[in-house]
Amino acid sequence: MKHLVLIAFLVFSSCSKTAVERNPYLYETRFDQNINLALPAFNNLSYAGGSMYWPNGGIRGLLLYNLNGNTIMAWEASCPNHELKSCSTLQTDDLVSPTASCACEDYQYSLATGQPLTEGATYSLLFYKVQQSGAAVRIYN
Ligand code: FES
Repeated sequence: MKHLVLIAFLVFSSCSKTAVERNPYLYETRFDQNINLALPAFNNLSYAGGSMYWPNGGIRGLLLYNLNGNTIMAWEASCPNHELKSCSTLQTDDLVSPTASCACEDYQYSLATGQPLTEGATYSLLFYKVQQSGAAVRIYN
């Protein structure tokens, strides 16, 4: 009997931790991309607040954002709040605005934090890992 009580305690106490909720709409993908910020194709990332869409990597490409002049952030370009559709690839709003929008239902996201800016949106942008050494940037997952 003591063993049953101990087992029940262990099972229930281990289940009490809050599970990290995974985005139900976007699948896990593996990729490894290297970009060179010195190339003209990446001019939009040469200043703080600059952003651009890069089609290589992720599920539907990457949204790249220069946070403060030195830190590049990389987000999945698929809208995280609905299943993948033809209209759900996010676009950066303009060269200096740190937001991206989805053409399906007009959800908007911050490129600085990944947080949704539209009421009713639950999930944030998926974040990818970035390693930076001068102009060389590696983005991977
Ligand atoms: S797919 Fe982007 S808002 Fe619905």
